[in-house]
Amino acid sequence: MALLEARDITKIYRLGRVDVPALRGVDLDVQQGEYVAILGPSGSGKSTLMHILGCLDSATDGSYRLGGTDVGTLRGRALARVRNRKVGFVFQTFNLMPRLTVEENVALPLQYRGGYTRRERRGRAGVVLERLGMSHRVGHRPEELSGGERQRVAIARALVGEPAILLVDDPTGNLDSKAGAEVLETFREVHAAGNTIVLVTHDPNVADEADRIVHMIDGRVAA
Ligand SMILES: Nc1ncnc2c1ncn2[C@@H]1O[C@H](COP(=O)(O)OP(=O)(O)OP(=O)(O)O)[C@@H](O)[C@H]1O
Ligand SMILES: [Mg+2]
Repeated sequence: MALLEARDITKIYRLGRVDVPALRGVDLDVQQGEYVAILGPSGSGKSTLMHILGCLDSATDGSYRLGGTDVGTLRGRALARVRNRKVGFVFQTFNLMPRLTVEENVALPLQYRGGYTRRERRGRAGVVLERLGMSHRVGHRPEELSGGERQRVAIARALVGEPAILLVDDPTGNLDSKAGAEVLETFREVHAAGNTIVLVTHDPNVADEADRIVHMIDGRVAA
């Protein structure tokens, strides 16, 4: 059984009286341990699909199973719970909390999840930051870091809860080519360590990093 199984996913945004069909029947399977790139032009529905796969939003129609759980029928807090347990997100704009230190940012998902002492949260954050070569920055604020360092902190935050899947939306879009290459190297290592990754991009060179490329055009997966 695939780790992630999406069937005939549609998403229609309602803007006043206008319906905007963002996804028009997407099928996607991702196996445990796979590294998949979703490649497509701007507006093709990549982020919309990622939000649904990552349980940030629900599909208008279709079915979605993540790690054996039927997610398609979940809403609200039940959906948020699956997201917190199973999904790690990395965004183009890093989305770090400016007033928190690197270590506090990375520990945050564990705080939302609950059930960890402060010491445990710090310990786990420290281990992931060490693994990503960011131990020397634990006490810094995001604004004191380079773009590439910020993205590595965001990757650490995505990994700290040991998610079933890492969802990555255009991770190099805000980075120069050197920092971008380093971040892609980090994903290679994370994948080699056994993590499942789905990465969205409109850059074919970035997509080439993955084991498999899924092309999206106009709300559909191209055959
Ligand atoms: N919240 C929203 N409300 C209404 N329409 C939306 C919303 N989000 C996205 N859309 C529309 O859905 C379509 C797909 O958008 P989406 O953001 O998924 O594209 P994308 O492939 O991620 O593009 P990009 O590469 O520019 O990030 C677009 O037509 C977009 O305008
Ligand atoms: Mg997008």
